[in-house]
Amino acid sequence: MSALEIKHLFGLRGVSKHDIRLILDHAKQFREILERPVKKVPSLRGMTVVNLFFENSTRTRTSFELAEKRLSADTVNFTSSNSSVKKGETLVDTLRNIEAMKIDIVVVRHKGTGVPKFLADNSNAIIVNAGDGAHEHPTQALLDMLTVEEKLGTLEGKNITIIGDIRHSRVARSNLWGMSTMGAHVTLCGPSTLVPRNTDLMNHVTWEPDVKKAVENADAIIALRLQKERMDDALLPSMREYRNTFGITEELLECAKDKVIIMHPGPINRGVELDSDIADGEHSVILDQVTNGVAVRMAVLFLLAGGRNNENA
Ligand code: CP
Repeated sequence: MSALEIKHLFGLRGVSKHDIRLILDHAKQFREILERPVKKVPSLRGMTVVNLFFENSTRTRTSFELAEKRLSADTVNFTSSNSSVKKGETLVDTLRNIEAMKIDIVVVRHKGTGVPKFLADNSNAIIVNAGDGAHEHPTQALLDMLTVEEKLGTLEGKNITIIGDIRHSRVARSNLWGMSTMGAHVTLCGPSTLVPRNTDLMNHVTWEPDVKKAVENADAIIALRLQKERMDDALLPSMREYRNTFGITEELLECAKDKVIIMHPGPINRGVELDSDIADGEHSVILDQVTNGVAVRMAVLFLLAGGRNNENA
């Protein structure tokens, strides 16, 4: 079957292996197109995509916008800071007004968990989640999975260790659902104050509080950003103590496999989650992740639009 079972992309929890495989395989084809001198295909010509960002973003918004342009879609960028949301307009009114301008796809980032689903329930547009609160960030996890497959050949049977602020991380959640569906084994590690409280989620992973043990069998290590903006209590004694205990350093990598790859969704707090020589060093695939982000987002938009657009890539 060459069509997605899902109609929107809210998250990776419950998304089938078939759909994830289809997205990753299409992303690999788009990755090749991105290496060509002419990087554009007509797949979404005539379609309009709105990027609705209520939270800051560098990578995700730029990456979606580039993906849309590479697919020949018309794109509109909306940021809450210069919109009528500031004058008190509700989310649904904002969406309905944008929808009245005949748009097809909405890419949304919002601090509220469940906003993408809420928008889908209240509009006819295809909705793509670009990060909702501490819930999910599915395209980040898909680009992480594409990077693991590109560097290690497969996700099946690989050990993926995610270190850091798991509790506030939508990236960790999407990765653990997606990667476990694809046959990888996910280990989580971080300060005990930043462990997720969701026991259902914890049943799908290994929790390893000792960072040296957490990295020793890892094929890939994903370091997460400390999300100080989502921490309403003092959950850490200090950044220095965090770095000394959980930071990825040369010394810690001596406990890991020689060929381990180091990943980070960005933005990086250099010298906190990752030392600079690791972020820029031989194990790092962080910029490959960013490149793969455009290809993954092209695949997601192309496949979700598939039911509504007759043109092919
Ligand atoms: N990885 C990620 O979501 O980065 P941005 O916040 O810059 O989009």
